[in-house]
Amino acid sequence: MASIAPAVRPDHVPEARVVDFDIFAPPGGERDYFAAWKTLQGGPGLVWTGRNHGHWIATQGDLIRELWGDSERLSNAALAVTPGLGAVMDFIPLQLDPPEHKPFRNAVMRGFANQHVVAMTPMVRDVSRDLIADVRPRGGCEFMTAFAEVVPLHIFLSLIGVPVEDRAKLRPLGQQLTRPDGSMSVVELRDAADDYLRPYVEERLKHPGDDLFSRILSVPIEGRAWTFGEAQRMCRNLLFGGLDTVVAMFGNIAAHLARFAGDQDTLREDAARIPAATDELMRRYPTVSVTRNLVRDIVMDGVTMKAGDLLYLPSVLHNLDPACFDKPEQVDFDRGLSPVRHTTMGVGAHRCVGAGLARMEAMVFIEEWLAGIPPFRIDPDRPTKMRAGNVGALTELHLVW
Ligand code: HEM
Repeated sequence: MASIAPAVRPDHVPEARVVDFDIFAPPGGERDYFAAWKTLQGGPGLVWTGRNHGHWIATQGDLIRELWGDSERLSNAALAVTPGLGAVMDFIPLQLDPPEHKPFRNAVMRGFANQHVVAMTPMVRDVSRDLIADVRPRGGCEFMTAFAEVVPLHIFLSLIGVPVEDRAKLRPLGQQLTRPDGSMSVVELRDAADDYLRPYVEERLKHPGDDLFSRILSVPIEGRAWTFGEAQRMCRNLLFGGLDTVVAMFGNIAAHLARFAGDQDTLREDAARIPAATDELMRRYPTVSVTRNLVRDIVMDGVTMKAGDLLYLPSVLHNLDPACFDKPEQVDFDRGLSPVRHTTMGVGAHRCVGAGLARMEAMVFIEEWLAGIPPFRIDPDRPTKMRAGNVGALTELHLVW
């Protein structure tokens, strides 16, 4: 992304709250995304950066959690700090605010009900096993391209009931989503996604089957049918919401297990610990940050944020705040035995509708990877690389076994 001059500090932002922090290029973010964010913690709870046209950032866990769940004073319409992105994507349900949000969200939630997630489990297991059988004899792999980017696409295609061979068509799009290289504008990316999805959206509206889109689109919105435009915005939201995030989650889990051989041993010896371990790994490695725009002034933490300001809420700074979690950077599988109030999947009205699916995918991945791959570690000769942004992710992770 081309660098732009920092915005001028507005009058209502005290000088002491200004930091120089670019969410797309935080200091050292290409090596350690989590550490880069942590550089903001320890000072005031609300800071302002002139980067990316100027926005607030909440840096303390309790403030992040409180503001994340506040749909009264904060709107989801902007989507991100990138100007114009919200208007281009226009996601349903993500960018709708209550009360308009509710009927659409209810319909989407029905589509992701637990029995459907359970029914998907054997397919996730099969695709994981096939990929693992393929990489195992090689003695190592670049995990992101060999596994992390492949599985979510396969699952998405199966969910919407299209041939998984379409993976080849959608893969370049998935890669632009997860690793944008600047070759496509966001408008081009959205249009490419819409072009791919259009025939399926039209078909599912006319002749519903038993796939995810059909299930959601057959739930009426306050007594009436979905329009084509609404259906398209929802399908686009699912595509964009469920690829990049899952890719990032797989990468972080694999990297953790590669770094901590003892944790690999624990889970190899006792697979019954995998569900709690999954929850703890998802807490420890949050990747999503959200943007809210203020619909009215908020006085908080000694400053006034004005209606119209943008506020950035990074889940990293909630989940890794020692004021919210005991020794937050330590992975403790027993922590996941009782419910943990982390924000990896968000909190409040927009909490992730795909959370159950993502958790199942992570559990199956850990089970199958540990069953199929011998003890593995990070290749000491090939550096691990990360990318910051609204979804922070590993871009290169070389494993050897
Ligand atoms: C580990 C993987 C995932 C992570 C970390 C994640 C994270 C999140 C977060 C933090 C939110 C809240 C956004 C906000 O408050 O503004 C969210 C919402 C959402 N996610 Fe996920 N997500 C994941 C997987 C998925 C999957 C697999 C799907 C679907 C295929 C999905 C679809 C959605 C949708 C549609 C919303 C909007 C919900 C609403 O506005 O009511 N996500 N996700």
